[in-house]
Amino acid sequence: MPSENVTVAPRFHPQMSEQDRKNERRLADRIAAALTRTPLIGKSFVRAAPLHGGKTSTVYKLTASDETLAVLKLAGDIAFMRTEAAALSCWRALGINTPEVLDVGEFSGEPSLPYLLLEFIEGENLLGYLESQTGECKNIQRDLGAIQARLHQFRVQGFGEAVWDGVSFRGTQTSFRAELAESGFEDVLAFARTDGRIEQSDLARIESATRVLESHAESCGTRLLHTDFRAGNILYSPNSKRIYTVIDPSAVVSHPYMCLSYSLVLTEIHGRSDPIHILEGYEQIERVDRSALSAARLLRAILMLRSFGRDKTTSYAKGLQKVIRCETDV
Ligand SMILES: Nc1ncnc2c1ncn2[C@@H]1O[C@H](COP(=O)(O)OP(=O)(O)OP(=O)(O)O)[C@@H](O)[C@H]1O
Ligand SMILES: [Mg+2]
Repeated sequence: MPSENVTVAPRFHPQMSEQDRKNERRLADRIAAALTRTPLIGKSFVRAAPLHGGKTSTVYKLTASDETLAVLKLAGDIAFMRTEAAALSCWRALGINTPEVLDVGEFSGEPSLPYLLLEFIEGENLLGYLESQTGECKNIQRDLGAIQARLHQFRVQGFGEAVWDGVSFRGTQTSFRAELAESGFEDVLAFARTDGRIEQSDLARIESATRVLESHAESCGTRLLHTDFRAGNILYSPNSKRIYTVIDPSAVVSHPYMCLSYSLVLTEIHGRSDPIHILEGYEQIERVDRSALSAARLLRAILMLRSFGRDKTTSYAKGLQKVIRCETDV
């Protein structure tokens, strides 16, 4: 039965330009038309409300006429959505809490709208919870470390962008070095060298770090990584059996410390908690080789300049600079 009277609220923000508002209204109309035409998982979803967050994709909470809830995530790339769906399902099969994947597909039209339909998880975004606390929440940080190590127990082949072939994951590159090149490492190095943040004398350290990880990857093997593992991508439900639920992976196949060091460096930069607690939690599941971790911290911190570190003056860029200069260590 097609839905009737589907109400979709556009994602408006106070500072939005008129053009952005128009685009959001158009998107909301398209979603309403798609939900009217296509009853997902056999349900008539009649309401869609934008969820907090969702900077890289559009995320809506859906309510069906029988009050069933679900989350609809829209992004530009169907391959990306399928990989996210497969990663969440793989980890769920390992016993890690992730939302159940209810459907993944594309709404027709020009361009088509790739979507992922997820189980709605009752809970609070863990970042919001941590920000509301005065202390360090060491136990939560340890739990996060242990969950991340459990995610990394999924062993795979190759390096780089994760591809799901329906049976198993593999990376699109054959070596760690090729993966760094694919991820734009040279471009980041180039701009960081131009503005003096990386000097000629650092290049030998960077080369040595690359070699250390290449060699360590041979013994530790590559794993399916979340790569954006942080409190903002965890839902927290302290009074339920599923206290933590992991969402929003940008799944990549690589050396696990490239993912671990991202979480450690972010925690260090934000300064709210000592990253040692995450590491302690991680080591409850798997021992960490400190020299390979230092190598990964250096390379990951350089890569992190790519997203928000271009402006040298931000506290984020200054924090990354300290890690790159090895002024801090875990
Ligand atoms: N299955 C779910 N159940 C309940 N809430 C969810 C679910 N999935 C996502 N959310 C909410 O929607 C927000 C955005 O989702 P998500 O992190 O997947 O999107 P995103 O666009 O990649 O986000 P961002 O760029 O902000 O990290 C989450 O922070 C969370 O609050
Ligand atoms: Mg997110």
